[in-house]
Amino acid sequence: MRSQAAGIISDQKQAQRQGFIRGTGLAVPDRVLTNAELEKMVDTSDEWIRTRSGIRERRICADGEDTADLAARAGSKALSDAGVEPIDVDLIVLSTATPDHLLPSTACETQARLGAHRAAAFDVSAACAGWLYGVAIADGLLKAELFENALVIGAEKMSAIIDYTDRSTCVLFGDGAGAALLGSGGDVANGGTGLLATHMQTDGRCAQMLWRPAGGAAMPSTSETQSERLEFVKQEGRDVFKRAVLAMEESSRIVLGKAGMTIDDIDLVIPHQANIRIIESLAKRLGVDRERLYINIDRYGNTSSASIPIALDEVRRNEMVPPGGTVLMTAFGGGLAWGSAVLRL
Ligand SMILES: CC(C)(COP(=O)(O)OP(=O)(O)OC[C@H]1O[C@@H](n2cnc3c(N)ncnc32)[C@H](O)[C@@H]1OP(=O)(O)O)[C@@H](O)C(=O)NCCC(=O)NCCS
Repeated sequence: MRSQAAGIISDQKQAQRQGFIRGTGLAVPDRVLTNAELEKMVDTSDEWIRTRSGIRERRICADGEDTADLAARAGSKALSDAGVEPIDVDLIVLSTATPDHLLPSTACETQARLGAHRAAAFDVSAACAGWLYGVAIADGLLKAELFENALVIGAEKMSAIIDYTDRSTCVLFGDGAGAALLGSGGDVANGGTGLLATHMQTDGRCAQMLWRPAGGAAMPSTSETQSERLEFVKQEGRDVFKRAVLAMEESSRIVLGKAGMTIDDIDLVIPHQANIRIIESLAKRLGVDRERLYINIDRYGNTSSASIPIALDEVRRNEMVPPGGTVLMTAFGGGLAWGSAVLRL
């Protein structure tokens, strides 16, 4: 029979095994695509893009620069930040909506580039929410004592799946990658750093609200699908907008409840960077003022699942949260899939 003393020991042990941040990194392509350049490509204006989305510029991969290249660069920086050698990485979880190949996973290709030859590696597909899903999965695996550390990467080459003749989507997205090395030993119950709570939710009934119709097993790429431009991202922008605000608000409230906190306990909110108006609506509903909101959409656009880890790295590097401070991260995207996490830094 499990004694009470044994129960207490095991609870304490569990409390000391939460994922915590050991290092972070980001990588974006050098090439900047400005609104002025987009004005020459489609019928749009800098003024429309800035006022409707908050985006001034985004980064775009050069020829031959792929998702795994960005992922490996961000991952390598996170490892350097943590002082961990690639060979000592146990697990790589990589979120992407733009895998370099459909087989094998981009995590495998990233593992090879990093030289993390001992690690298990797999991809997570949850669109813009993918990195937070990856963090929740990695945290669970660390708590289950299957691994000692996990490199969670969000990497996207959105320029490969965006239609640069469609003004309603091409102005919004950009390329980039962000990464965090999670260690297992966050003693959050006793005030240590680490993940306090995570939340994930999905509504597959709305799958076609934000998707790529062709290029997968259901509709393989043909000359017809290409001429109809069905390999590119299609979205119902207005519906996605409304659902994004409501879902991120609800998810934020759920994850705060799980952490035993209120929004007033949060030092900084890091929302998915999809649209400045989505971020502002969310902040208003949550009761968060501009000072407690991290925004970098003006520089990168929507980098899908790379958006939150890129922001988190900038937040850490610029020491925007005091030691022991907490961040609320929340994301929403295709699936529809969304999620949140509360992290003590
Ligand atoms: C896409 C989005 C910026 C459009 O903004 P909006 O205010 O909803 O604009 P609408 O879609 O209602 O379009 C308004 C008009 O602007 C036009 N328009 C669309 N894109 C334009 C562009 N780049 N430049 C100029 N005009 C544009 C539309 O054609 C429409 O014209 P019409 O009234 O003559 O038909 C906005 O809906 C959005 O951000 N949605 C969420 C997208 C998102 O974040 N997706 C990823 C989720 S992770």
